[in-house]
Amino acid sequence: MSVFELKHPLIIDKLTRMRRKETTSKDFRENLNEIAGLMVYEVFRDLPLSEQTIQTPLVETTGYVIKTPVVLVPIIRAGLGMVEGIQQLVPTSRVAHIGLYRDEVTKQPVQYYAKPTPDVNRSYVLVVDPMLATGGSANKALMIAKEWGAKTIKFICLVAAPQGIESLQTAHPDVDIYVASIDQSLNDEGYIIPGLGDAGDRIFGTK
Ligand code: PRP
Ligand code: URA
Repeated sequence: MSVFELKHPLIIDKLTRMRRKETTSKDFRENLNEIAGLMVYEVFRDLPLSEQTIQTPLVETTGYVIKTPVVLVPIIRAGLGMVEGIQQLVPTSRVAHIGLYRDEVTKQPVQYYAKPTPDVNRSYVLVVDPMLATGGSANKALMIAKEWGAKTIKFICLVAAPQGIESLQTAHPDVDIYVASIDQSLNDEGYIIPGLGDAGDRIFGTK
């Protein structure tokens, strides 16, 4: 498995805006979707294409279209904030949802929802969540996606702690990780430092 830290100036600039504590929920959401779109441009580099004979206004020619169905799996809630940005680039993608929250005391993920798409087992699957902290939530979501039969799976997040990356690499060595920034550490409450705070609360304005 590989870890790709996508250090593009456009991504770094937008992520810095998101980290600022004074950034509004509206600006936070906009930047999150924009970064998600910029990141999948790189993530989908190996998306398989199939040949198609098409007719331009002038001649017949060979074109190429996306061959494999794409399924996005946002981890609710915060992962939802990345879906629109990705679907702008891949409008045919379907969305399967996994609902998890971290228990405040144990930091373990608690599952409250899971809804696959009918074609998930033969799709190119992208599990999305802005935050990879201890790795518990991502590990659980990847386990659920595999139970659905998903075989080609990638994980994409904005900010990761080194502990989360290590945990994911151990539990799911077959899954590539794409991240905008690998931050320094986790604090005692399980928050990423410097991080950007609670992503779900900032997206939905719940604090
Ligand atoms: C956040 C985040 C991840 C998880 C990461 O969700 O969106 O899903 O924490 O932490 P972990 O790597 O230690 O598991 P949270 O549990 O706060 O739920 P929310 O998205 O509903 O706010
Ligand atoms: N979840 C978040 O939303 N932020 C963190 O820093 C860690 C987990």
